[in-house]
Amino acid sequence: RLPEPFQVPLPVPPVAEPVRTRGGADVHEVEQRAASQEILPGLKTEVWGYDGRFPGPTFVGRSGHELRLRVRNALAVPTSTHLHGGVQKPEFDGHPTDLVLPSRFPDPRKGHSGKHHGKHSMVKPSEWTVSRAHKEYLYPLEQPATTLWYHDHRMDFSAPQVWRGLAGMFLIHDDEESGLPLPEDARDIPLMICDRAFEEDGSFRYPSLDPSLTEEPGVREKYMEGVTGDVILVNGAPWPELEVSAERYRFRILNASNARRYRLALDPGPREGAAFVQVGSDSGLLGAPRSHEALPVSPAERFDVVVDFGAFPVGSTVRLVNTLGSGGTRDVMRFRVARRPKRGGGAPRVPRRLADFRRLRAEQAVTERQFDFRQQQVDGVPMWTVNGKPYDPGSPLASPRLDTVERWRFTSDFHHPVHVHLAHFQVLARSGKSPLATDVGWKDTVDVRPFEVVDVLVRFSGYRGRYMFHCHNLEHEDMAMMADFRVV
Ligand code: C2O
Ligand code: CU
Repeated sequence: RLPEPFQVPLPVPPVAEPVRTRGGADVHEVEQRAASQEILPGLKTEVWGYDGRFPGPTFVGRSGHELRLRVRNALAVPTSTHLHGGVQKPEFDGHPTDLVLPSRFPDPRKGHSGKHHGKHSMVKPSEWTVSRAHKEYLYPLEQPATTLWYHDHRMDFSAPQVWRGLAGMFLIHDDEESGLPLPEDARDIPLMICDRAFEEDGSFRYPSLDPSLTEEPGVREKYMEGVTGDVILVNGAPWPELEVSAERYRFRILNASNARRYRLALDPGPREGAAFVQVGSDSGLLGAPRSHEALPVSPAERFDVVVDFGAFPVGSTVRLVNTLGSGGTRDVMRFRVARRPKRGGGAPRVPRRLADFRRLRAEQAVTERQFDFRQQQVDGVPMWTVNGKPYDPGSPLASPRLDTVERWRFTSDFHHPVHVHLAHFQVLARSGKSPLATDVGWKDTVDVRPFEVVDVLVRFSGYRGRYMFHCHNLEHEDMAMMADFRVV
């Protein structure tokens, strides 16, 4: 019994308030804990959330202004919090082997020799780093205005732990953005889109081999392609509705699904103008806006867009649909154009110039590397691999130099949304041809489609040390489709 769509108002996660300011930095505290939340009307779902909510609170930072996030783990399992798209030192990057253990949980460094969890990755006891109960992450936010998100990244268990709710939005503002006449405050709204499946009693349904998420990681081979659900949630609510006035809104669209891809469109489309005016990509504002009728969004990608409800009649409704879905998964949410904007109100047309953006040129690349994302037999079991190997945290696949640009080529046998930590990139080509219209700007995640070859120019700036890149289909990630690189 699934709920009727468009019955629940769109929730907007609360913006986190700092608990104090220390040495010019905003200090935030957040607790990972289990809580009960009404997701399907009339039923209770146990979520594992930051501050017990799903999505977690939205963190809002200012470019160049450090934010410290103190995470307390009050769950029964280890966690690792990754600020996706953030430029931070390796020890604060939320590496999968950098665990925050619950107060009573065996220390993996004292464990027996690296156990090859069936089709999963191998970590030697000496490769774990561990904090007990809490950890303070330092985010310098030395990066331009952008739409980031944070989520769990625990080795072998990211997929079920994010599914249970460990994810939230993280926005950065800067002066360049503040000088632009973009919709703000109540008309700047995050839309965290993800699918979930539910049991009859309202609990999340995830086909883990070990539902306690303590011993055996992962899902069975029938979920090689990833786990999907039949309910589409936006900000944690099933097919919600948002009342809008007939004016421009800015939406920070994030696909927080484990494995589902979307192609978002408006139904009906606007009487005039484009459905979406894109102003930002994964890692910042564009140089100039780009108009799109549809947005393909793979897991972990973000699109910062302006939608003008002035192009729809007052009193009408507009659905945000996923043209790749069918039945219930075709609908995402609905907008009700309830009223005219207040007189003189409403953000003006999106300006023709946005941020300072420089396109990288292929000649700037000092090195070229190729990474093949494929399924392969490893010890007789099918595994998701990078360059033929399941994840091995002891052996980085690349050692780029700080402050250089490299050309990375990703090849693929399936849909693999490839995400690079720390370093942002620009898409240069898809199978030797032009990138998609939606590939513009600085990105940290790119959907590499079946049998496609995607060339990107990656700029390594920020910090030296060990980072990683991986497929952001979270089941693929847990099935070891990850690799380290070391910035030298
Ligand atoms: Cu959003 Cu390594 O991940
Ligand atoms: Cu993948």
